[in-house]
Amino acid sequence: MRWLLWGVVFRWIFRPVIFLFPPETAMHGGEKFLKFRPAWYLLSPTRYEINLPAKMGDLNLRNPVGLAAGLDKKCEYLASLADLGFGYVLGGTVTYNPRPGNPKPRVIRNKKDKSLINALGFPGDGLTNAITRLSNLTHRPGKVFVSIAALDDDDALKCLEGLEPFVDAIELNISSPNTLGIRKYHDSNALSKLLSTLNQKRKKPIYIKLPPFTNEQEAELILSLAQVCKKSGVSGLTVANTLPVEDDRLAVGRGGLSGRVIFDNLLKMIPTVRSEVGNGLVLNACGGISSGADAYAALRAGADTVQLYTALVFEGPKVVVDICRDLQILKLNA
Ligand SMILES: Cc1cc2nc3c(=O)[nH]c(=O)nc-3n(C[C@H](O)[C@H](O)[C@H](O)COP(=O)(O)O)c2cc1C
Repeated sequence: MRWLLWGVVFRWIFRPVIFLFPPETAMHGGEKFLKFRPAWYLLSPTRYEINLPAKMGDLNLRNPVGLAAGLDKKCEYLASLADLGFGYVLGGTVTYNPRPGNPKPRVIRNKKDKSLINALGFPGDGLTNAITRLSNLTHRPGKVFVSIAALDDDDALKCLEGLEPFVDAIELNISSPNTLGIRKYHDSNALSKLLSTLNQKRKKPIYIKLPPFTNEQEAELILSLAQVCKKSGVSGLTVANTLPVEDDRLAVGRGGLSGRVIFDNLLKMIPTVRSEVGNGLVLNACGGISSGADAYAALRAGADTVQLYTALVFEGPKVVVDICRDLQILKLNA
């Protein structure tokens, strides 16, 4: 009943109003609302509504649906987001130093096809603030992970060492299309060196978030990076980040496309990456997942978990429970 009410409120009142504002203004409004946790706690699904335990390597999840990196970059309202029913929530991407990000406009909302194009460029207030917030995070109904940026070997190591004690796993972002510096880790030697440094220090699982591929040439590069990750002994891969596109509406002229429009490509990438790395690595599918049927297809294609971001913006907070419920039914009927 609560969820029915919430669905109606979001779809017919809340969303039309926030969509009148430019995307970043709406995002800041959403952030303020998310910080008010009692509202989200009241709306959180009861444990009876979702019963979909999943494994992610050695981690036990309450369900396989995760929040993708980027929504809570500063790790400010992960408790509210967890209350929406996610199996795990990813904070970040956290960088060692505070960063202003790219000039605005840097987020475009395409209402027609329910997609976003972002060129945020890691705005955030740095590692020390993220450590403070995560160390104070007591409400953890699901697992809590954090994404760190691979901008530089030293910075990534400091982020891993600083944040690891307060989270269940780390995701290393080597794939943001909006940040200069990250691309140096698309070279196998540079990536291998970084991963061996991180592997020596880490005590918890680490997943590497790869860029997407859309043709054979790109696939060759990304699969070679996947091989480097496998040989380095990481715990798993997240496939994939946003799809790089050019768009004059963005101040920097290019950004990353997300939402249902990239889902077909995701479904092609998952089996390709799975057959490349075998069954030993965890595979998290990310890109356009918006329904239980999408999540089910991604899991059937070889993923262990799914992650979403853009569906939350267009479908509202109820989408997490809807996906879990539909997944449960699809799994029972399989
Ligand atoms: C506004 C925005 C900001 C994002 N920021 C990050 C980020 O900081 N780190 C990251 O790894 N991915 C980031 N992403 C990518 C998402 O985590 C995800 O890979 C991508 O949006 C595809 O999933 P979706 O179609 O479910 O949104 C961002 C996406 C959006 C739309």
